[in-house]
Amino acid sequence: MFPAAASAVSCPPVADDPRTDRRGLLRAFAAVGGAVGCGALAVPTVRFLVAPTQGGAGAGRWIRTVPLDSLPEGEPRRVSLVADHRDAWTLEKDVELGAAWLVRRGDGVSAWSTVCPHLGCAVDRASGGPGFYCPCHDSGFDPDGRRLNGPSPRDLDALETRVEDGYVMVEFQRFRQGTPEKEPVA
Ligand code: FES
Repeated sequence: MFPAAASAVSCPPVADDPRTDRRGLLRAFAAVGGAVGCGALAVPTVRFLVAPTQGGAGAGRWIRTVPLDSLPEGEPRRVSLVADHRDAWTLEKDVELGAAWLVRRGDGVSAWSTVCPHLGCAVDRASGGPGFYCPCHDSGFDPDGRRLNGPSPRDLDALETRVEDGYVMVEFQRFRQGTPEKEPVA
């Protein structure tokens, strides 16, 4: 038994070693850096996962358009649907997401997407009548958006509207083309 010899070679307390202090400091820096890095990655990841439910392009998003007073009674008026567009990584301000035909009837407003349900060309006003017309393949629609002729498989796609603070709000949405049913797409 040599208890005295064993105590003679014992090491000093770890905290007294300056190299150990430096290593601890480096470990702390690495931990903080890692946490910051993870946070930086987590923000866009969460944003990406959440974005579709926040009403991004095609998810039924309410957009303010023009004052109700500016719309003439019963006459179609084309308006751009402009809003901020956000994806997982970027935010673009004031992007034209689409357009709508608005028709005021008293205090209410009807709206239709300007995208033709056939193959997606832009629907215009009919030159020789009160309705709408798609020049790509000659689809005609009446003033209420109902299909009259041509290859469009359905009526114009109606959009929801409401008046808020004197402005016409339109629920922007995209729909599948070429199908008889009106199906929203993301
Ligand atoms: S895209 Fe409109 S009729 Fe074909």
